[in-house]
Amino acid sequence: MTRALAALYRTFYDRVLCRMPEPAAIALGQAVLRRLPLDRLGAFRLEDPRLATTLAGVRLPNPLILAAQYYDPVILRRAMGLGFGAVTAKTITVNARPGHPQPNLVRTRSAAGPGLVNCNGFQNPGLAAFRASLAGLPHRVPLIVSVAGETVEDYAAMVEGLAPLGDLVEMNISSPNTKLVYAWSERPQELRAVLETLGKRSPRPLIVKISPDFAEVNERDIIPAALAAGVRVINYGNTRRIEEPRLSQRVGGLSGPDIFPATLENVRRTRKRFGDAVEIIATGGVDSPDKALALLHAGARAVGYFTGFITRGPMLARRILEALRADA
Ligand SMILES: Cc1cc2nc3c(=O)[nH]c(=O)nc-3n(C[C@H](O)[C@H](O)[C@H](O)COP(=O)(O)O)c2cc1C
Repeated sequence: MTRALAALYRTFYDRVLCRMPEPAAIALGQAVLRRLPLDRLGAFRLEDPRLATTLAGVRLPNPLILAAQYYDPVILRRAMGLGFGAVTAKTITVNARPGHPQPNLVRTRSAAGPGLVNCNGFQNPGLAAFRASLAGLPHRVPLIVSVAGETVEDYAAMVEGLAPLGDLVEMNISSPNTKLVYAWSERPQELRAVLETLGKRSPRPLIVKISPDFAEVNERDIIPAALAAGVRVINYGNTRRIEEPRLSQRVGGLSGPDIFPATLENVRRTRKRFGDAVEIIATGGVDSPDKALALLHAGARAVGYFTGFITRGPMLARRILEALRADA
């Protein structure tokens, strides 16, 4: 049944969504997600206590996480009923940001499969408006709020303002589309100070989301600094920065199956180097059950994906969960 639905969605993605201009396809996809109460259908979920895991002590009913991209509370609520063990909201900044102009998202297709390149630039409503929008959101599964800033003060304000509304807080230091965030990996000493401050102040456990473009700095400086600050969950990671002349910024973040081999390598190396001291969320390129399983076997505690949700549809989570159950 899920296989048949997955095949149907693939045809819809290839023949309908991919033939539409990207902004129209996004608008259609989001309208469907908002309007159809898919979260009320049991077909997308699989509940089995053997699949449960924890991140910094927070219980997730299963290890699948919808990675950061959506901030609309209706979509977040729907996503919480689509099989994920946790849902991450889009990165929010103190002030609203319009994001980069169109075109800010293009499709890619390689032998590995369909992917995306985006230069979204943190289009978001800002802290106050996002806080207000989250007020009535039931946490059917844990909500991970994601924050970004340019200074220690920004991050402190974001954590103070948003953490109470989430179950975990993800510190985004890795989106390649704004200097604001990407540059943190080039200033590991300053980042250490931010981590120390937030490690003490956050009322919810922190996750640091790192970039696959900075493997050496991550493993030499950033992960040890996070551990020293009491942060033990690392999301490895974000999109990969590439040149893309079709985008308004001419560069963007590559996501989807082309980045999967690096995600797998990063997880293997990090697990080997840091052992059980770090809890790894592996994000980047998951679009099939075997890729999710490979990351978990390589030492990830949870697996995140976003592009696979778009290219493989909402039944991907259930297909992965069925494979995890068979593997349990
Ligand atoms: C359109 C778009 C917007 C995104 N926005 C965010 C964001 O706000 N914060 C963040 O940490 N990651 C963001 N990401 C990155 C994803 O959360 C994820 O880390 C990345 O796409 C790699 O995973 P994937 O290959 O499964 O998509 C975005 C990705 C896309 C494609």
